[in-house]
Amino acid sequence: MQALRVESLSPDLSGVMLADFPRPDRAPGAVLVRVRAASLNFPDLLMTRGEYQFKPEVPFTSGLEFAGEVVEADPASGFAPGDRVMGGNKTGAFAEFASVPADKLSPMPQGMDFPAAAAMGAAYSTAFTGLVELGGLSEEQWVLVHGASGGVGLAACDLARGLGARVIATTGSASKADRIAALARPDAVIVAEGRFREQVAEVTGGALADIVFDPVGGDVFDESTRCVAFGGKLMVVGFTSGRIADISTNIPLIKGFSVVGLRAGEYARRFPERGRAINQAIRKLAEAGAITPAIDRVLPLSQWRNGFEAMARRELVGKVVFVPGG
Ligand SMILES: NC(=O)c1ccc[n+]([C@@H]2O[C@H](COP(=O)([O-])OP(=O)(O)OC[C@H]3O[C@@H](n4cnc5c(N)ncnc54)[C@H](OP(=O)(O)O)[C@@H]3O)[C@@H](O)[C@H]2O)c1
Repeated sequence: MQALRVESLSPDLSGVMLADFPRPDRAPGAVLVRVRAASLNFPDLLMTRGEYQFKPEVPFTSGLEFAGEVVEADPASGFAPGDRVMGGNKTGAFAEFASVPADKLSPMPQGMDFPAAAAMGAAYSTAFTGLVELGGLSEEQWVLVHGASGGVGLAACDLARGLGARVIATTGSASKADRIAALARPDAVIVAEGRFREQVAEVTGGALADIVFDPVGGDVFDESTRCVAFGGKLMVVGFTSGRIADISTNIPLIKGFSVVGLRAGEYARRFPERGRAINQAIRKLAEAGAITPAIDRVLPLSQWRNGFEAMARRELVGKVVFVPGG
């Protein structure tokens, strides 16, 4: 089968290659899935460089998440051949087949196609765990979402809107603002360069943001400390800017906000029942038409480089989805 392998760590994808490998055997207790679509996440790119917190031993098959059909399963797993499932196990998704522990899979939403299901998984569970589970989001609250053109950022905008909150989306790339506005339909899009607190204050009528959802970090985080409402939450989601910001502890004290660290995958591992409940809630919202993942491009896996490079060059608005076998 075709699989995208990281043969060595490299800053420029030179250690990554698509090649033929034997189909994996189903591991004991695992489910063998024919992958129909797999989506690219920022950590996939970081893992090719050895820059992600999880550092698999090389060589490894790339790919955090997929959607596909069950080929073989232990009856005790709760899955049967032909079931349409989504999930992943940190690596192994960019291949024609994947053997995955049953608890890393969940049923696809009814009526959803494989590319949308592959695009939804990690981005929406990150957004849901952050905004709803840890953030306690409620209707009419103001949510400020940074990196809004990204997979996680767009999911956070879409989810917040689907739950009746009010959304300000920010982007560091002015050229993406119109596409973000069309896809995420936020109340406002702000180009987050330098100081942007006054714009947030203006849009919210002085209220500022109840939740700031920040996958970018760096200068954007620094300015965000000025954008959180009293009693609000500043959520640390990631560091796509490349800089991990520092904060003086007197700032959250004086302004009365909380800084909340988000680790959506780890949260689901430590609290598996909550993880299942989160997946179910997302599935219900998708089936009700309240949320829809945004896809920038669907590519055959043979064009993997196009997707990885577009992500590295920060060109995307929405997810890249690969179709193996193409
Ligand atoms: N905490 C968690 O549980 C969790 C879970 C999943 C992912 N994450 C993290 O969330 C972040 C986003 O992941 P993703 O898959 O959504 O990535 P993505 O699709 O590539 O989106 C990242 C966005 O960050 C913005 N950005 C700002 N400065 C950037 C820079 N210097 N280089 C690249 N992008 C930059 C870009 O938006 P603009 O161009 O619009 O500014 C870009 O679209 C990553 O750091 C990832 O590790 C965290």
